[in-house]
Amino acid sequence: MSKDTLVLHASELLTLRGPERARARVEMSDLSIIRDGAVAVSDGIITDVGKTESILKEHDATGIEKIDAKGRVVMPGFVDPHTHLVYAGSREFELELKAKGKSYMDILQAGGGIYRTVKDTRAASWEELYEQSAGRLQSMIAHGSTTIEAKSGYGLDMHVEMRMLETIKKLGADYPVDLVPTYLGAHAVAPEYEDKPDDYVEFVSAQVLPEVSRRKLAEFCDIFCEKGVFSVEQSRKVLLAAKALGLKLKVHADEFHSSGGAELAAEVGAISADHLGKTSDDGIMAMARKDVVGVLLPGTPYSSMTKDYSDGRRLIDLGVPIALGTDLNPNCWNESMQFTISLACHKMRMTPAEAITASTMNAAAALGLEKKVGSLENGKRADILIVDVPRHSHIPYRFGTNLCSLVMKDGKTVWEKHQSMAT
Ligand code: NIG
Ligand code: FE
Repeated sequence: MSKDTLVLHASELLTLRGPERARARVEMSDLSIIRDGAVAVSDGIITDVGKTESILKEHDATGIEKIDAKGRVVMPGFVDPHTHLVYAGSREFELELKAKGKSYMDILQAGGGIYRTVKDTRAASWEELYEQSAGRLQSMIAHGSTTIEAKSGYGLDMHVEMRMLETIKKLGADYPVDLVPTYLGAHAVAPEYEDKPDDYVEFVSAQVLPEVSRRKLAEFCDIFCEKGVFSVEQSRKVLLAAKALGLKLKVHADEFHSSGGAELAAEVGAISADHLGKTSDDGIMAMARKDVVGVLLPGTPYSSMTKDYSDGRRLIDLGVPIALGTDLNPNCWNESMQFTISLACHKMRMTPAEAITASTMNAAAALGLEKKVGSLENGKRADILIVDVPRHSHIPYRFGTNLCSLVMKDGKTVWEKHQSMAT
């Protein structure tokens, strides 16, 4: 028996109707809003979108589940296209180091940062790694993320990298969310290869990547292309090896220095280049020409205590399709796309509509999922949020609380806010 649902009376239904690709320039400002809007869902798929009045006329509502949005915003579930969801431990003590002036790279090069988390992740049992990651995942779902990319990169060896990817697979099977797995073995040079970075690049390219591909554990391959981590030449080698195995590509590019990462992403045909704190004009133009999605991660300069927010306004004006992600990781424990949207508006000069497009349709495109999720259109997955605000511009405006009142994944309510204040 099919399960039908009508979501009715949205003050603003943000459909994001439009071309099935990342939106660029002024397209990012068009949310295709229907006032007093409604969505019809059947068997987890959107079957109709329109004014509440006409949806009620066209659908026999008897016996169907009806959800009254009661003048709140209804929109597509958030797609978070860049996270390091799976890790063990925490690094809250780095806050004090950063407050006293140590940079992210100082901490990493002194053996902390990623290396600290590699130690904790290697030492964790399967269950500990799963449970700690599951806690974060539940919180992300409660904040409205219905599709989430998740990377490996805290094992830096064969065994623990595989365990991380297996953990992503199990979490995706156990929770009502789509997880998109990325192999990020080249997140840092493994401690065992400290003085032989090229040998580590060879290990990743010739040994781990074929195993990842054989076991079908990742859809994407990513690399931290950054001065002091992996050079453009080393990154090219890993990315081309991954491409030859059929993986799609992403690059952590130009986070702290203009390192040629954006240019490399365009050259190798990556779907996205992420961070872009210090991207050169040549890099921006190369991305715009090749339609590489720029994934901006404003939680990271926030938590790293730098002022190096990417210039979202300029990137959009120059034609790069922009997506937003949390970059959830032990340096940036940010589970909320709502907070990310708020930071993008306040720190990257993006408008509310642009930031919402960047967190739905363009984030879907950054994962190659633009035909399945990211907008409310017939045939798309019924991943739908009811947000407790009267207009979409309130989403960045009101930060620090969870504004979601209902999260629907594939037509099923998977999280609901309970109003239970005692009076
Ligand atoms: O995207 N910059 C590289 N990787 C992550 C941080 C990982 C960590 O610090 O544990 C990022 O910000
Ligand atoms: Fe990252």
